[in-house]
Amino acid sequence: MEEVKLKLRQAVEWPLRHPEAFTRLGIRPPRGVLLYGPPGCSKTMIAKALANESGLNFLAIKGPELLSKYVGESERAVREVFRKARAVAPSIVFFDEIDALAGERGSSSGSGGVGDRVLAQLLTEMDGIEQLRDVTVLAATNRPDMIDKYMIDQVKGQLAACVL
Ligand SMILES: Nc1ncnc2c1ncn2[C@@H]1O[C@H](COP(=O)(O)OP(=O)(O)O)[C@@H](O)[C@H]1O
Ligand SMILES: [Mg+2]
Repeated sequence: MEEVKLKLRQAVEWPLRHPEAFTRLGIRPPRGVLLYGPPGCSKTMIAKALANESGLNFLAIKGPELLSKYVGESERAVREVFRKARAVAPSIVFFDEIDALAGERGSSSGSGGVGDRVLAQLLTEMDGIEQLRDVTVLAATNRPDMIDKYMIDQVKGQLAACVL
């Protein structure tokens, strides 16, 4: 796990702890990290370890928790998560089992495309006009093939993927 731990420190802890060094060197830190691997390979555990070790504010959300059958509620929940994260920055937002939220468009969970709307909100938060300052997004999935391609493309270059 040494390699994964080092990657997480570089991608999450360093930019939040030493932002001035990144500015000085002109390096843009990744906006998020996707942990992927089969069930039981310690994705959740390593995220918890990062929460403890980094000493940064840590908001953990289980993907399926945010899904609501009521129109607008799921998007509101996503907005609320990021609002809280900004308020307590520097912070880490951890979406466990993100495939429940960021699944391929059109094939979204539930009727009325709640998955699509949640995904759009998530993309807005991650890439929106309101810059995500001092907030790093960490996500875990055992189904990387189910994550929306557009989301992966959009954050490519800013997204450091860690294979567990
Ligand atoms: N590297 C490891 N060292 C010790 N125990 C581990 C390790 N990886 C996984 N485990 C055990 O497996 C359990 C499941 O890991 P978890 O992080 O929940 O997996 P995932 O989220 O990837 O499905 C953990 O609670 C832990 O008991
Ligand atoms: Mg898990």
